[in-house]
Amino acid sequence: MKDKNLPIQGLKVTLHKRPNGMPKESDFQVSNFQVKGPKDGEILVETHYLSADPFQRMRLNAFSGYGKTISLGDTIKGRIAGKVIISKNPKFQKGDFVEGMLGWKTHAISDGSQIRAEYAPGVTQIDKKIAPIPAWLGILGFPGITAYFSLIETGKLEKGNTVLVSAAAGAVGSIVGQIAKIYNCKVIGITGSDKKVKHLIDNLGFTYALNYNKGNISKSIKSFAPGGVDIFIDNTGGPIADEVYLNLNLNARVVLVGNISQNNQSSEIQRKDLQNMIMRNRATVSGFIVYDFEDRANEARKKISKWIKEKKIKYDQTIEVGIDNAPRALISMLKGGNIGKQLIRLPISIKENT
Ligand SMILES: NC(=O)c1ccc[n+]([C@@H]2O[C@H](COP(=O)([O-])OP(=O)(O)OC[C@H]3O[C@@H](n4cnc5c(N)ncnc54)[C@H](OP(=O)(O)O)[C@@H]3O)[C@@H](O)[C@H]2O)c1
Repeated sequence: MKDKNLPIQGLKVTLHKRPNGMPKESDFQVSNFQVKGPKDGEILVETHYLSADPFQRMRLNAFSGYGKTISLGDTIKGRIAGKVIISKNPKFQKGDFVEGMLGWKTHAISDGSQIRAEYAPGVTQIDKKIAPIPAWLGILGFPGITAYFSLIETGKLEKGNTVLVSAAAGAVGSIVGQIAKIYNCKVIGITGSDKKVKHLIDNLGFTYALNYNKGNISKSIKSFAPGGVDIFIDNTGGPIADEVYLNLNLNARVVLVGNISQNNQSSEIQRKDLQNMIMRNRATVSGFIVYDFEDRANEARKKISKWIKEKKIKYDQTIEVGIDNAPRALISMLKGGNIGKQLIRLPISIKENT
């Protein structure tokens, strides 16, 4: 079938100007586009939630580090959750909800395949009986899957370990800490405000938490974990990570999950002698990319869903409303304005109460 225009004008967020350092709202543009109908095998999805994720910042640069960058005028790469409004694929019914990397727009076409690569136009079916739709972008989406596999598989989690996680109050970090608690670990969270420190301890059950903007990070870690850190889930890189390396236990596992502290830097910072600290502690440092666990995503979802049901794990969401406010939500998350998963809810979701 040929592409057919529908009587629907959509909205999309595009890159207007490459940011230098922290992005500004004026680096983005929100504009109309003509929505086309799906071809045979495809589905048309109406977006209910957009996800704001740190990786999107890297894609705005001319050189991304890993993954493809986007060009000026391109739609911002991003995950969405939404409703199938036209299906030309027998696997999907009109009214189904799905999640996928379909870009920051109000209407998107998917080929109905399962996601296999970062920008594949595939989707995951959402089961609202397991958890509400936005949870599929957070705890049951890539942040939850990242938390699960980075800690359990790559970090080789063992009961009773001392686990330290940075960006601890965010989407990935908050789940890492709570999974570690389920395994009776001592859990230390590093975050950017006293409010978040209190939240981690009082509401999420972390053993200790510290505000990286206050005091000596290394000394605080030493007082919480005199025997050293067994697993470090590094979500930030940069100077915070340097302080953690000073406190590694023998045979520690360091999992490099994210580098958010460096994503908005315009020049490289001077680092401590990390290699020496790795060597003397016989530590293992592993890179982690969630897409390597794509085929096993349901394993993580099943386990996490069970923990949600048993009330062993909680998830927080910070929600902005309206596609016009998506750039603001992304910038706020990059500055630490979120607790848990940063999402953008679209008016259709409010109207349909999804
Ligand atoms: N490798 C993978 O496959 C994979 C998959 C998903 C996510 N990630 C990475 O995991 C990390 C967390 O992602 P997320 O989605 O869960 O985001 P998030 O933690 O929900 O949000 C980002 C948080 O980063 C913290 N932050 C921002 N600038 C910082 C800085 N200069 N120094 C220290 N902390 C800073 C802020 O919290 P504070 O208030 O605490 O500063 C902010 O809330 C990111 O680095 C992301 O790139 C990697």
